[in-house]
Amino acid sequence: MSVSPSLSAVAADASTAAPTQADLLDFVRRTAADAELISSLPLDPEGRTWVRLEGPGGSEAWLIGWPPGTGTGWHDHAESVGAFLTARGALKEYSLAARLPTDGWKTLELADGIDRERSLTAGRGRAFGRHHVHEVLNESTEEHAVSVHAYYPPLPGIRRYSRTGRVLRLEQVERPEDWQ
Ligand SMILES: [Fe+2]
Repeated sequence: MSVSPSLSAVAADASTAAPTQADLLDFVRRTAADAELISSLPLDPEGRTWVRLEGPGGSEAWLIGWPPGTGTGWHDHAESVGAFLTARGALKEYSLAARLPTDGWKTLELADGIDRERSLTAGRGRAFGRHHVHEVLNESTEEHAVSVHAYYPPLPGIRRYSRTGRVLRLEQVERPEDWQ
């Protein structure tokens, strides 16, 4: 059976539209509600585990398992926007409510009042814009957490930072395959 030219044009447009933050948040919310998929993630008490998912509109998506006490460290996602949502357990996000200069610095003294924190219990998540700087942790001493993440465009690289008090230091730029 042939597809009419008008119908294939519509399909091509739909598949090339860049997913928005709202689209990504909707995707992670729907994915987290898929109990069978969430249960399929292998969990390891020694470290994080992950499975790559097919995100909407060519986005990069991951299912991530977090044993108690694990976290990402401070990082950003460069030009990508994203969303993540806790499917099981609870995650804590520490973030900066400020846009950092993108280049040309190695250490930066953070202004007062830009630290934010969010507790993301099961079913809670957030979307974020470009250059969002955060760290995500499972602060539980007992319970594994599982979360769903989506990024668009797919992550070209992640800038990693260390932080001592108010001083943020750029440590390295990682390729996505080094991460997660
Ligand atoms: Fe992140």
